[in-house]
Amino acid sequence: MSNIHQPVLLKEIIDKIDFNVCNLFLDGTYGGGGHTNEILSKGSSVLALDNYKKSEIIALSNQKFGGKFHFFRSNFKDIDKIISENKIKKKFDGVLLDLGFSSNQLEDDTVGLSFKNDVPLNMNYADYEISAYDILNDYTEEQLTKIFREYGEISNAKKLSNFILDYRKNKEIKSTFDFIDLLSKSRVNFGSSKINFATKPFQAIRIEANKELENLSEFLFKINNYLNNNALIFIISFHSLEDRIVKNSFKINSIKKDSSFQDGQSWGYEILTKRPITASKEELSRNPRSRSAKLRIAKYKC
Ligand SMILES: C[S@@+](CC[C@H](N)C(=O)[O-])C[C@H]1O[C@@H](n2cnc3c(N)ncnc32)[C@H](O)[C@@H]1O
Repeated sequence: MSNIHQPVLLKEIIDKIDFNVCNLFLDGTYGGGGHTNEILSKGSSVLALDNYKKSEIIALSNQKFGGKFHFFRSNFKDIDKIISENKIKKKFDGVLLDLGFSSNQLEDDTVGLSFKNDVPLNMNYADYEISAYDILNDYTEEQLTKIFREYGEISNAKKLSNFILDYRKNKEIKSTFDFIDLLSKSRVNFGSSKINFATKPFQAIRIEANKELENLSEFLFKINNYLNNNALIFIISFHSLEDRIVKNSFKINSIKKDSSFQDGQSWGYEILTKRPITASKEELSRNPRSRSAKLRIAKYKC
């Protein structure tokens, strides 16, 4: 399995880590191993997770790091199960989620994330239970409207879901091009002329198929249980809905810099990024995928 994915904001992350004290790092979104490789080469141990079967194959190349590298094919939201089932006693000094999908998955026609190729509807990039096919053919009008409004930020979501319900009375929605055909016939205004009209509907279905927001919230709710004092938590998001969840989670659990904990609070985050870090001009020119990446960092205190 070749790896074509380039890690984003790599330098910005590596520069923040003190490798003298970073013994164990959690990479919750291993992907093509770009971030993990760099962290391993600096001497830290890495526990890596990814649900994508091809990431598991790429991870075999890291076996040269011996006991310093462990990969589990798992959803990051199940971090508690991974820790308890594998009797992991050590806590993490650093954590990374580089959310969403990799370039490897974008190129994988069995995943079907790109609207450039006509392939069976899936969009499920990490083998969860629901596919885009199930959503578009089985969801009720209310469910579809909610997804298009909340995840696609499509203002005329109800018109689109009504159209889908009519369309599927006569024809199953089987492929990415069936979906695009439907979108173009729906006469729904998808907003900005700067992006392809299918971008937002595809985003909405992809977020739902992969339970992107639920997984992120669940992980953020659990992760504090597995961190050492001063552990750094890095989250790279690629759309505003994810970024909002990260920002709010850090804020709700924040402590004021250098102040003592408030009553009853035994842990908290020091927020290291008032505003998210974005890619440099150099990275943008090298890797266009980095243009929507936003990195937020917090330090865990207990
Ligand atoms: C942007 S890529 C990560 C790329 C990686 N940092 C690198 O530089 O090679 C995101 C990866 O996270 C995985 N992923 C997304 N959501 C996940 C989840 N809930 N649990 C586990 N893996 C997930 C995807 O399968 C994908 O491989």
